[in-house]
Amino acid sequence: MMQAKSFELFPEAASTIAGQVDALYAFLILVSAFFSLLIAFLVVYFAYKYRARPGVPFNPEPHDDHSAGGMILEIVWTAIPLGLSMIMFVWGVSIYFTESRPPADSMEVYVTGKQWMWKIQHMEGAREINELHIPVGRNIKLTMTSEDVIHDFSVPAFRTKSDVLPGKYTTEWFQATKVGQYHIFCAEYCGTKHSGMVGTVYVMSQADYNTWLGAGSGEGSMAEQGQSLFNQLGCGNCHASVVNNQNGRCPNLVGLFGSRVDLKGGTSVRADESYIRESILYPQSKIVAGYEDYMPTFKGLITEDGLLKLIEYVKSLGAKNGTQNTATSMPVQTGPVPQESGRAAGLNAFGNQAARTGQNSGATANRPPQGNR
Ligand code: CUA
Repeated sequence: MMQAKSFELFPEAASTIAGQVDALYAFLILVSAFFSLLIAFLVVYFAYKYRARPGVPFNPEPHDDHSAGGMILEIVWTAIPLGLSMIMFVWGVSIYFTESRPPADSMEVYVTGKQWMWKIQHMEGAREINELHIPVGRNIKLTMTSEDVIHDFSVPAFRTKSDVLPGKYTTEWFQATKVGQYHIFCAEYCGTKHSGMVGTVYVMSQADYNTWLGAGSGEGSMAEQGQSLFNQLGCGNCHASVVNNQNGRCPNLVGLFGSRVDLKGGTSVRADESYIRESILYPQSKIVAGYEDYMPTFKGLITEDGLLKLIEYVKSLGAKNGTQNTATSMPVQTGPVPQESGRAAGLNAFGNQAARTGQNSGATANRPPQGNR
């Protein structure tokens, strides 16, 4: 919890990984402390024992010890530090691997950093600023990007942090183990108000989270908002009737996400978030085999938040290899798409709104079931 305590050696441990990180850290401290004390003691002890005294001859010549005993000593004091550092290495790598591989059943949340705030977007449509509401006991995967400079999303109580970079997506995942409130820090110096780029994670019971989500925005899920944006931007003119693409001018987007795409020139690429993002902003950089370089760039026309919504829309059209987003497939609206008045509504979706918007609960109907995702 965030109640001020007089002095804390460690932040509260509130995630499944926290215990492992703390154990490794404790091991590092103990090993360092043991050798620091041992060496300090020996320095003092030898300084006393071999001090200059009357009647004891001073021999400045060190002699090389080529005896078997000297060799054994050399091997021992090489092997022990090697063994210890290999333990640290393997232990650290295993935690790093765990932290860098979000479980397939993770609930996904999008995070956009910008000087100097955190914008959070839930799949179901709820948005928040400098606050992240999550259910306890669920794997949460953050997909993060930045609108300007490098930030770093750090939650000390979860013992996890990851850089948030402009122009690409990074991820971070955790499972909170305790209901409560925990600090979010930006852990990468990002300008004048870096120290103020903070927030709070609210870990709630699943029931409380559902209630919180139920009060969410009336703008529909991210995939639905992405579909609106897709239509506003005219993507449908070429990627027309994506479900039954008879057009042929542009690649079919159904089932695209997660699949392997053959490119002009013989290479191929996996259709992940970064690929879709690149195809929207720099469509000429990877041309799908069998298609021409028709597509104009949408760079400057779509915000980072808009990109995330479009990606969610593409995901909602079906995924292959089911590893990435079993948790996020959205019901696709097949009816007419509600057009917002002017595309600014979608483009400036976050704007300067101070916190989550649209407290009306009219949008609960389109929400996927909460139970088992
Ligand atoms: Cu953002 Cu420091």
